[in-house]
Amino acid sequence: MEIKVIVGDVAQIETDAIVVGLFEGMEQPDEATAAVDKALDGAISSLISRNEIKGKSEEVSIVHTFGKLAARIVAVVGLGKRQDCDVDRIRRVTGQFCRALRKSNCRKVATILHGADTGGIGLEASAKAITEGAILGLYCFTKYKKPEYEDIEEILIAVKEKGKVPILESGVSKGKVIAEATNLARDMVNEPANFMTPSQMAEVAKEIAVKYGLDFKVFDREEMEAMGMGALLGVAKGSSQPPKLITLAYKGDRDSEKAFGFLGKGITFDSGGISIKPSEGMEDMKGDMAGAAAVMTAVGAIAQLKPNINVTAIIPATENLPSGTALKPGDVLKAMNGKTIEVISTDAEGRLILADALSYAVKQGLSPLIDLATLTGACRVALGLLYSGVFGNDQSLVDKVLKCGERTGERMWQMPMAEEYKEQIKSEIADIKNTGNRYGGAITAALFLAEFVHNTPWVHLDIAGPRLSSKEAGYLVKGATGFGVRTLVELALSEAKNREAI
Ligand code: BES
Ligand code: MN
Ligand code: ZN
Repeated sequence: MEIKVIVGDVAQIETDAIVVGLFEGMEQPDEATAAVDKALDGAISSLISRNEIKGKSEEVSIVHTFGKLAARIVAVVGLGKRQDCDVDRIRRVTGQFCRALRKSNCRKVATILHGADTGGIGLEASAKAITEGAILGLYCFTKYKKPEYEDIEEILIAVKEKGKVPILESGVSKGKVIAEATNLARDMVNEPANFMTPSQMAEVAKEIAVKYGLDFKVFDREEMEAMGMGALLGVAKGSSQPPKLITLAYKGDRDSEKAFGFLGKGITFDSGGISIKPSEGMEDMKGDMAGAAAVMTAVGAIAQLKPNINVTAIIPATENLPSGTALKPGDVLKAMNGKTIEVISTDAEGRLILADALSYAVKQGLSPLIDLATLTGACRVALGLLYSGVFGNDQSLVDKVLKCGERTGERMWQMPMAEEYKEQIKSEIADIKNTGNRYGGAITAALFLAEFVHNTPWVHLDIAGPRLSSKEAGYLVKGATGFGVRTLVELALSEAKNREAI
């Protein structure tokens, strides 16, 4: 699908559909909407007065033009209350109207720049949000099944002033990079585990590296043994798929040694291992590598946007399966940083592989560290499916991540790291054990990870809830969400030396 900025009056454009907006509570359409209303002999205002169109956020009303305009359809989209209008609203609304128009068999769509004039959103931000909303909202995982509807081929963003075109084009091209990276992460999560193995994860990472000029490394079992990664290798013991530790490095600031570390949990299938999970819903555990997918594709996007910053993604990847060679409850593992771990549940495997990945990141001198992991069911119970839990040992870094989440619409909520709960993960026979009791499970998991970051500033995002969406909503579709990609990109851009120029 192509997204273009064009100069012209939206009412005159020859397309399948034109899209105009309406804030909630407005009795008369204004601006572009008013011009279109006039061409339709007041059809829109009459629908408003009959309360059929209310302007509620994400409401999409299809009005047929029957030859009164060059376009076959006018879509009037509700923008909600004017005072609540923000970029995420524009993204959600765009996702919604794009899907509605695809269902109405539209191939070519023209839209006005929602929210920019009257909603108080900047020009570039609006063009970026429309682009992201369209690409994300129209996403389908089509590898194994034909899509239900034909694609929209072209979206035109119409503006009257020629001078605005360059800034809008810049918004479109950034939005495109970020949304496509998110969709790649979604593809990886939606792929079944018989395809998306640790080796395949390494393949994808390599493709990203080659395409965007990143440093790529992959360590296999023997190299991990030599580095002392007993925790990661312990989890891998039950599987015949070889584990991989993948790194992807972007160097955008050659003058600095400093580099951010983005770590992602890469369990390509989590059966629970010997502490096996109930079979109901187990198929969703093919997506237990959502954190890995997010960090990988985020670094790919960052490489395209070229901020002056260094970022290295680290992905520990393995399956978690039961077998005659599998890790057992009661086993003791030794992580790369020398700490011994008593395994109580083989289903608390994410923190084991991250223990080694974090130790490796610290050893590499990466700082600060951000990890993304589908770590605990407890976090889903605590915050529901929309929010990721945010944990950290450095409040200013936590605040930065939360700010980025606000801008991207990826919802997050900070959780406490109560020292007292460390009691729960004390072991009788090792330095630490891998599970606590049934209370505060997301917190004890984070406290476990904290044992492997030393003093490095670190933030952990537990994305077990928002990695999937149960339904179409705004720019989300059923299945993988690609949660975290956009926040990581936002963080890298906002921390870059040349941030004003990007
Ligand atoms: N991958 C799961 C967490 C998860 C659960 C993600 C549901 C998405 C949806 C993780 O490896 C796990 O199994 N965690 C256990 C930890 C427990 C054994 C302490 C859990 O949350 O039940
Ligand atoms: Mn598990
Ligand atoms: Zn898991």
